[in-house]
Amino acid sequence: MCGIVGYVGEKNATPILINALKKLEYRGYDSAGIAVLGNDGIIVRKAKGAIKYLVEKITGEVVKDSKNLSKEECEKAEAEYERQIEKTADFVKGNIGIGHTRWATHGEPSDINAHPHTNVSGTIAVVHNGIIENYAKIKNWLQSQGVVFKSQTDTEVVAHLINYYYEQKKDIFYAVLQALKKLEGSYALGVVCKDFPDRVIAARKDCPLIVGVGNGENFIASDVPAILEYTREVHYLEQKEVAVLYADHVDLFNEDGEKIIRKPSHVEWDLSAAKKDGYAHFMLKEIHEQPKALTDTLRPRLVIENNVPVDIKFDEFDFDENWKNAGRIVITACGTASYAGMVGRYAFEKFARIPVVVDAASEFRYRNPILKKDDIFIVISQSGETADTLEALRIAKKCGAKVIAITNTVGSSVSREADRIIYTWAGPEIAVASTKAYTTQLMCLYLLAIKMGEVRGTIAKDDYLRLLKQLEEIPEKAKRIVENQPVIQKFASEQFNKAKIFYIGRLFDSASSMECALKLKEVSYMHSEAFAAGELKHGPIALVDNSTLVVALATEPALYEKIASNILEVKARGAATLVITQDCSGAFKNCADTTIQIPECENDLASIISVIPAQLFAYYCAVQKGLNPDMPRNLAKSVTVE
Ligand code: AGP
Ligand code: GLU
Repeated sequence: MCGIVGYVGEKNATPILINALKKLEYRGYDSAGIAVLGNDGIIVRKAKGAIKYLVEKITGEVVKDSKNLSKEECEKAEAEYERQIEKTADFVKGNIGIGHTRWATHGEPSDINAHPHTNVSGTIAVVHNGIIENYAKIKNWLQSQGVVFKSQTDTEVVAHLINYYYEQKKDIFYAVLQALKKLEGSYALGVVCKDFPDRVIAARKDCPLIVGVGNGENFIASDVPAILEYTREVHYLEQKEVAVLYADHVDLFNEDGEKIIRKPSHVEWDLSAAKKDGYAHFMLKEIHEQPKALTDTLRPRLVIENNVPVDIKFDEFDFDENWKNAGRIVITACGTASYAGMVGRYAFEKFARIPVVVDAASEFRYRNPILKKDDIFIVISQSGETADTLEALRIAKKCGAKVIAITNTVGSSVSREADRIIYTWAGPEIAVASTKAYTTQLMCLYLLAIKMGEVRGTIAKDDYLRLLKQLEEIPEKAKRIVENQPVIQKFASEQFNKAKIFYIGRLFDSASSMECALKLKEVSYMHSEAFAAGELKHGPIALVDNSTLVVALATEPALYEKIASNILEVKARGAATLVITQDCSGAFKNCADTTIQIPECENDLASIISVIPAQLFAYYCAVQKGLNPDMPRNLAKSVTVE
């Protein structure tokens, strides 16, 4: 949750911090703040709400809302906003600072609870991502020492605790190290101290934090997009490492204060990845990026001979005896990633004939799980930082399992702790609602399942080659669906005020339905649920009336007739109906109110593309309702707390 940033260099820190925070706003957006070290000490500015309110507070100028503006007006408003951000430099001056955009865990979103938090005299300021689990104990103790607290946050104890140790030696590095020893829970921290006006101190445990190494300037950030404009050289801080950043160099230490020598890594990401590039929202941009993301994820793993795909190969590992003799696959993940796992289950069972268990990581971690020697354990995580998923990974490793991670984030905790990593090459996903990360996760799972089938001899050679050819065509088919956007936009404009939306499907489609329903919930706040179509009559159909839209995913011809019957059943009870299918002319012709055709493709692979109309539907419903799909209420992109 939340984004933290820090800067030390020659330039005015204020607009740099705010610009960097803007790039992290997807991580939390209930309040924001900065602390800048100027000639007269630390200046703190904080405001409840999105970052624009912080800018307003600093400059005293209203930032124009770009909602309901035409594209041209929107661009003008953006340019004006950028000018206003630059103008913050006139009000808050200093070359060193830290910033925060919050996703509250302790204490309501408010000006006071916004970060940074300071010690009583305002000479030490702290931004924090995570949860200090033993904060109440530390707070009681500090209060008994006479410390007066201002906020309800857990974070404030960190500022006072550092101050406590600072008073012992007047050494801020010592003080931070001592304080860290007392903290339980998770943290990524940025600290500045008035008496050390040449440095920012940073530390992390169980929350992501990177150090950007620039030329005469250095940065901290929760994620790469925040600093991509300034540098591509980054240190991914390891667990419990501490970094001290000066304008001209960065020192890294372990938790005991011993120096670590490590070269920064180079980030390949394109700068445009962190920009909207003319799209109204990141979510729409990322939906449109799927054909490319799918190609990037697929291509390096296809062995091509004479222009024809002949095999699947992962550079990351061999399909050795473990795959051949595996007894079971266990997949754990959260949210969208776990729904990718559900589709993966059907793929593994279908192609490799192996039993699969899919578990929410938040359940798995508390279940005292039974893992067997011949299990293959897979975690899936876009961010690679989800707390529950990470913990599930650690438990699996403790049980002796070899963990394979499917993740989108190079250098993330998941990528560092797993035994084998398969990257989804989706590029940075900024919108809170996952789209391209999900479809590329599916691509990886299909590749694994199909290759496993070949290795285990459960797929005939001809079928194997046909599936590879079909996989190769998926990105082009995704493109055709994305181009069908106006049809879905129109459908959303007719349906966005429905009270209930149910997605139904069978087999692969029932797994995909869960992701479709989640997308709609997340960005449009419409009540949507997913049901295995055959389950409708066992209860959920009681909910169906004329305020309901039922959407059927139908990509399995053998079950078209069954789905058609389900559609007629709900129609008879007043529901509006939509079928997303490869075959609009057959079973669904005179049955559903509306049909959306997706390109012909191998039925068992269709899940990768059948979700795209649902992503667009969710997006346009949100837009119709005047909501910002990039920043749904109560959510944050990366859930680094339990
Ligand atoms: C996706 O739309 C959601 N915002 C959420 O369910 C997400 O997929 C989940 O929190 C897992 O995140 P991860 O893939 O980064 O681990
Ligand atoms: N636990 C802290 C708070 O509630 C930090 C939350 C965050 O990561 O934004 O303020």
